[in-house]
Amino acid sequence: MNHSINFWAVVPAAGVGKRMNADRPKQYLELAGKTVIEHTLLRLLSAEVFTAVAVAISEEDPYWPDLDVSAHKKIITAAGGKERADSVLSALKAIRTVASDDDWVLVHDAARPCITTIDIHHLIDSLKTDEIGGILALSSHDTLKSVQGDNVIVGTLDRSHIWRALTPQMFRYGLLKNALEAAEGNAAITDEASALELQGMQPKIVEGRPDNIKITRPEDLALAQFYMEHQND
Ligand code: CTP
Ligand code: MG
Repeated sequence: MNHSINFWAVVPAAGVGKRMNADRPKQYLELAGKTVIEHTLLRLLSAEVFTAVAVAISEEDPYWPDLDVSAHKKIITAAGGKERADSVLSALKAIRTVASDDDWVLVHDAARPCITTIDIHHLIDSLKTDEIGGILALSSHDTLKSVQGDNVIVGTLDRSHIWRALTPQMFRYGLLKNALEAAEGNAAITDEASALELQGMQPKIVEGRPDNIKITRPEDLALAQFYMEHQND
């Protein structure tokens, strides 16, 4: 490697937020004085590690151009795709002329506005000497049941082997782009790690903070607001 390694952020923000059941995509709902996506992007920018942040936006999205952050000099806009993985791939293609294969990419959901600089640096510091990369994850506190048929418990899972995948997910640009291209159209690819797993690779997990929630259902907005108010404590 005869060049310095750059870090890029990729933010899929082209979903419709069906489970949120609101009048607009959840990334444009207001939370503590700003939209969800503004919190997310401003937190990524304030980590001061990214050369640029590539954001995938739906072509039918009327809200994005109205946000000041859309004109930020470190923000690159790409077209969203049908599934989350298509949006991520589109954003990766938007930086193909400036990113190198061994650069790092951190993919982070627009819908996770409580991401902290602490977690971003913890992920980077834990994985920057790794060949492949990995993801922030949380262990499960609850006992986990395997269920079949008509809500019948058929077993109890060994919790010590089960982790909940969060974002950011951090991988080398070239490996990630190849893995997502190879997996195109495969509905089982719900995060970046699963695309690399399909290639036979073994990404790592790094324990993240529980306040890094994804806004998914209406009650999550109040929880995110609570976490934001207490993050400076
Ligand atoms: N996303 C995207 N492109 C898609 C689908 C999702 O960029 N075609 C983004 C969402 O905007 C979100 C992230 O991927 O930031 C995580 O997805 P999810 O929480 O499932 O968001 P939505 O798909 O919008 O919500 P829902 O599944 O409830 O419709
Ligand atoms: Mg979705």
